Amino acid sequence: MSIAAAPSRLERQKVRIRPMDAARTTGIGKPLTRLKAWFQRSVIEGILMKRQAERLYLVFGGHIFFQTLNAAARLDLFTLLRKHNGLTRDQICQELNIQAQPARILLLGLVSSGMLKKRRDVYRNTRLTNELLCADSPTNILPYVALQHHVMYRGMPKFFESIKEYRNCGLEEFDGDEETLYQRLAHDPEVEEVFHDSMSALSVQTNKILADFLDLSNVQSLVDIGGGDGTNIITLTAKHPHLKGRVFDLPSVANLAREQLAAHPNASRLGAVNGNCFEDDLPTDADCFLLAHFCTIWSPEKNKQLLKKCFDALPSGGRVIIFNMMQNNDETGPLSAAVGSPYFLTIATGEGMLYTWNEYEQWAREVGFAEVSSDKLPRDHGAIVAIKR
Ligand SMILES: C[S@@+](CC[C@H](N)C(=O)[O-])C[C@H]1O[C@@H](n2cnc3c(N)ncnc32)[C@H](O)[C@@H]1O
Repeated sequence: MSIAAAPSRLERQKVRIRPMDAARTTGIGKPLTRLKAWFQRSVIEGILMKRQAERLYLVFGGHIFFQTLNAAARLDLFTLLRKHNGLTRDQICQELNIQAQPARILLLGLVSSGMLKKRRDVYRNTRLTNELLCADSPTNILPYVALQHHVMYRGMPKFFESIKEYRNCGLEEFDGDEETLYQRLAHDPEVEEVFHDSMSALSVQTNKILADFLDLSNVQSLVDIGGGDGTNIITLTAKHPHLKGRVFDLPSVANLAREQLAAHPNASRLGAVNGNCFEDDLPTDADCFLLAHFCTIWSPEKNKQLLKKCFDALPSGGRVIIFNMMQNNDETGPLSAAVGSPYFLTIATGEGMLYTWNEYEQWAREVGFAEVSSDKLPRDHGAIVAIKR
């Protein structure tokens, strides 16, 4: 019987310097493959791409997550949880008179998207949902949730066409033949009410910011162009007892505002003017024009035209205040600007968006305002104050 000679050192090295070949014949590569798989799973997917994947889910399922939120809002689940400081699933089913399976699906969506917290078996609101989605919170935005459902969902499927054709194709979903959503709302009082309720819910959120920030001690008469139902001028005149405030808005809206303002305790200092700011003259007895959530509706050209019209109607020392969410000057966000802009293109007018700080400042200077200042405010808002000298 012959005994094979032990491999020489050189032969042993040859085995070591050809690992791939060896793997094929001996299976030595399996640990390597497992290591690669672990690296892919744990490091690349688990750490490096996790946030990207989560974001993709939120975007991809945006309509699902919104409808989850909308269903919870319509069931008034957030108010219920606030009232009881948390409930189990069985208790939620009982209170809302819904079955366990749909409740599981709803609660899964709310917890995974961060709208609710779950600890052990108890579901609770987050701080934000407590403030924004409970019917008994004075700062709730429930009407804005209804607006998303009744207006955005109707028009936004036409975003693609609107990009291609650069017009508000989504407006075709609304009755009438006028060019803007604001004009067409007059044909549908139900949606018009949803719209103005949501605007005033947003104004409640933001006009406190405006009132805290604005120094109106030198202003006597303020006109809020596109002032809607008058929520802004009510807050501002309440804070400044010397101030008179008027809404300047399309006739159907100004008439609605006039009715509401007449019943207000400060009615003698409040009023409404019917008008289309591009077709009708602006009042010439005001020393301040407020453009709150208004410039976002229009194209850059129309905004410049409007600012020039304001400039011409103001006395020297008069001012324009632009107040809305702002886009970063480097055009990278914030999310609020990215979410808000497509609505103006697809539904509202086919031409507006949330512009950058620089654009507003430049337009104001171009039409003649000598002093232009900008202030960053909470909730991605900003104010540009332009004074005529
Ligand atoms: C987005 S809402 C803003 C409401 C309010 N300024 C606020 O801060 O919540 C736009 C308002 O502009 C009004 N509007 C639209 N086109 C207008 C025009 N051409 N002239 C005057 N007002 C107009 C609408 O009727 C609506 O009340």
